[in-house]
Amino acid sequence: MQNKKEIYALAVKQVQSLIEGEKNIVGIEANISALLKEAFPERFWWVGFYMVHEGKLQLGPFQGPVACYSIGKGKGVCGTAWAEAKTVIVDDVETFPGHIACSSLSRSEIVVPIFSKHSNDVVGVIDIDSKDLAAFDETDQTYLERIASIITETVDL
Ligand code: SME
Repeated sequence: MQNKKEIYALAVKQVQSLIEGEKNIVGIEANISALLKEAFPERFWWVGFYMVHEGKLQLGPFQGPVACYSIGKGKGVCGTAWAEAKTVIVDDVETFPGHIACSSLSRSEIVVPIFSKHSNDVVGVIDIDSKDLAAFDETDQTYLERIASIITETVDL
């Protein structure tokens, strides 16, 4: 049985080889969503991307139940990670003011910003929900931020 760090270390290597030389952001995000959902099938209930477009975070590729299409800056967990340009971990979504409930089964959440290659602008976020309370910690943050930076290095966003 692999531990969380081992699973993530392998996932990061897989992401690197899977998207190397690829420039199509939709395809890249679709494959990363699939890879992460497969890496943690029990812990990850919803895995996906919201990308900044026309002043809002707009739904991108994901794995899991249907989700809302757009999120304003500063709104919900995703919009907060965008506004603050940093990772947000929520142990209990019911205690997060303004949390946007796409699935009533989600209990905890991590949102990691993706930065532009050319500036400090946030161009999108990785969003992961769990059906368990407090499912995410610094290990998730470290590895998901690494995946976000691989996306930044690979694609001209
Ligand atoms: N819960 C998020 C909205 C997106 S869904 O979780 C897929 C939020 O509060 O921003």
